Amino acid sequence: MDRILEPELMDDPEQALVYARADFEKENQGFVDRFREYFPEFTEGHIIDLGCGPGDIPVRFARALPSCRITAVDASEPMIRLAEETVHRAGLFDRITFRCERFQDLAGANIADAAISNSLLHHVPNPLQFWHKLRLVVKPGSPVLVMDLLRPESPKEAQAIVERYADGEPEMLRRDFYNSLLASFTEDEIGAQLAQMNLTRLLIDVIDDRHWVVSGIIH
Ligand SMILES: C[S@@+](CC[C@H](N)C(=O)[O-])C[C@H]1O[C@@H](n2cnc3c(N)ncnc32)[C@H](O)[C@@H]1O
Repeated sequence: MDRILEPELMDDPEQALVYARADFEKENQGFVDRFREYFPEFTEGHIIDLGCGPGDIPVRFARALPSCRITAVDASEPMIRLAEETVHRAGLFDRITFRCERFQDLAGANIADAAISNSLLHHVPNPLQFWHKLRLVVKPGSPVLVMDLLRPESPKEAQAIVERYADGEPEMLRRDFYNSLLASFTEDEIGAQLAQMNLTRLLIDVIDDRHWVVSGIIH
């Protein structure tokens, strides 16, 4: 099945709210735990989160790594508003800063000591822009962790995944999940993107029936 693009930004306020209310605890905490397991020596510094959405992942990172500060980037205003509320409630405003802009437009290079991104890449029409920016924003020697959905082999398989993992969820969340699965990449496509960007030291791992993870040190 070919990739079918979905809209780049999640900037419909209702869509953002439905996403913010969904329970991604297992995926999001798993993402944080994986970062700590892969990079146990990384305990302080500046982390950049590309496509931070409603802010749950930056908050989990700030709690897990109390000596780190985080810049969280998302170009959706409703998402950034929700994320600011989340961070305010968590009392972490002094360590998490938001930037409401497209990651492609972020100024500066070598600005972070680590980069993370969950579930952004499938929104991006040109994935090479993402890998380019990922490499640019971190200092050489920085750890990166990227996770996203894996494109199923057919629309039928995508629908089966929605039934398996989003049964009983709001229709808008199920629709977005289905469209996201169709817009995501295969393991081979991610491997080809990394090769094209000369990022072959990063490793790709398929961790379950619907997610891949890319990790490693940017040189
Ligand atoms: C599926 S959400 C994931 C949010 C968050 N990382 C999480 O795991 O909960 C993807 C987010 O990426 C944002 N996004 C998409 N394209 C973007 C771009 N070019 N620059 C910045 N943010 C973008 C969307 O607005 C949306 O909030």
